[in-house]
Amino acid sequence: MKNKNHYLILLCLALFYIETNANSKHLLSTCDHCSEAISNCLSCSGEKNCKKCIKSLYPKCNQCSRDIFSGNDLEIEGEKYLSCHQLDSLHEDICKIRCRGEFFQFGQCAKLEEASVCQCFESTPTTTTQAITTTTKKPFVQRDITYRVFTQETTYINDFKVLANGDLVAAGYSGYIKILDSLNGTVTKSIYAHSGPVWSIDILPNGYIVSGGDDKKIKIWDLNANLMKIQLNGHSGLVRVVKSLPNGHIASGSTDNTIKIWNSTDGSLIYTLLGHSNHVQDLVVLNSGDLASGSKDKTIKIWDIETGLLKHELNGNFKEIWRLGLLKNGNLLVLEMDKIFRSIDPYTGEIKINYLGHPWMPRDFAVLPSGDIATGDSGKVMIFWDADTGYIKKLFNNPSSYDSYDILRSLVVTKSGDLVGAFENKKLKIWNTGEGPF
Ligand SMILES: *[C@@H]1O[C@H](CO)[C@@H](O)[C@H](O)[C@H]1NC(C)=O
Ligand SMILES: *[C@@H]1O[C@H](CO)[C@@H](O)[C@H](O)[C@H]1NC(C)=O
Repeated sequence: MKNKNHYLILLCLALFYIETNANSKHLLSTCDHCSEAISNCLSCSGEKNCKKCIKSLYPKCNQCSRDIFSGNDLEIEGEKYLSCHQLDSLHEDICKIRCRGEFFQFGQCAKLEEASVCQCFESTPTTTTQAITTTTKKPFVQRDITYRVFTQETTYINDFKVLANGDLVAAGYSGYIKILDSLNGTVTKSIYAHSGPVWSIDILPNGYIVSGGDDKKIKIWDLNANLMKIQLNGHSGLVRVVKSLPNGHIASGSTDNTIKIWNSTDGSLIYTLLGHSNHVQDLVVLNSGDLASGSKDKTIKIWDIETGLLKHELNGNFKEIWRLGLLKNGNLLVLEMDKIFRSIDPYTGEIKINYLGHPWMPRDFAVLPSGDIATGDSGKVMIFWDADTGYIKKLFNNPSSYDSYDILRSLVVTKSGDLVGAFENKKLKIWNTGEGPF
């Protein structure tokens, strides 16, 4: 009797061993050549998004992406676990993705009852419809304030910048440039600037404002004196973006597929940068002083603004570029059509982080003083991200204070550290991020 029991236990252990070993091998074999795909998706969020991230970047890893979420091969005290080996970097990454898929912040292979299994940490709600919070930082506080500022207007704000005195200067869809009080959104000045939407606005070192519009014109303003100083003519398409450059010049990007560099003192044209084969959508100055341009032609180009020469071209599987930005660490933030939002190395094109979690395409983003990123999409979801890891720190999904037509147009961080969003229903919304004043 005793021997028989002994034999049964041994048999069970043997079967158990064979089974766990077989499944671990299975997991390894389907994900064997997917370590790059997996390591590029470590910041995904939700099973659907995580699977999509892996297989859209690497179609051959489709089976691996499925196995990550179905491979519960170990049972300990009635609970099923994914076995994973602590010293195996692929296993560690698979575990992280598995946990991200379940809306945990992270996961790691850890010992449990003599076995090494994937364990998830920082338990968070299991659906995207709830806010995801973290305890490592002071949580964001949403101020319950919404100011309706454009009651006289029939249109909305396309772009924002912060003036030296803390006020906001806004590019209006109706052709007006407006100055707003950053604390309560009150309009303190309104100037009719372009016939048609003002698409972009920036501030020059001398305090003048540069605006670019649907009327293909670029104008330089002394808003204190309510004066237009210079008009820059030359684009044959509408002006999508204007940027004040570190050397005092102005760069503009247009639907005529060109970028132009202008002398901001006398308005003369210095260079026309040719190379994009579709609309130039956004421009950003890198830490090196080079200019990055993003286009509907699905490329990003890096230009030397002193010589007007093309330095690099990034053709990495981009979709149409919608917005560019700069992170504190110097990496380029790229917002592409079809809700792709990621950071890349501007010189190698290497993808650093995929920010996954928006159900709809983000419309704009802002980098907060801490380096975190705020994004808002066309489906009323607002997300605060850890820029370096891609972790979602806070997610607002259709907060009750939102109205219908509440689609974000533009985001800006004010001098007091607040985040101001302009929406298509002509409202401004102000969030206290808990980061200011700075
Ligand atoms: C908005 O704030 C400014 C100063 O911060 C103040 O002068 C103004 O009266 C305020 N407007 C409203 C409507 O509260
Ligand atoms: C810009 O224009 C001003 C005024 O004409 C001139 O003094 C300056 O040299 C110009 N700068 C460049 C780089 O052309």
